Amino acid sequence: MNVQICVGSSCHLKGSQIIIELMQAALEKNGIQDKVNLSGSFCMGVCNRVGVTVSVDGEPHTGITRDNFSEFFREHILEKLK
Ligand code: FES
Repeated sequence: MNVQICVGSSCHLKGSQIIIELMQAALEKNGIQDKVNLSGSFCMGVCNRVGVTVSVDGEPHTGITRDNFSEFFREHILEKLK
């Protein structure tokens, strides 16, 4: 699975770094770091007012924040790897 976290200027200001850290920790905690190819991305053109854009296998998800990260991770990464 390819997961890209946007580090474009808008997403960067809204916490890309925090999302990268949460992502790395969650992948490790679930022992799936080998199944996910994690990388950064330039602006995906879907900047959201509240959060960061993360694409999963080419499908962008907007508005990811510290608060909704766990839900996003479970629904769009963990569940899809099962
Ligand atoms: S800066 Fe992330 S989608 Fe534009």
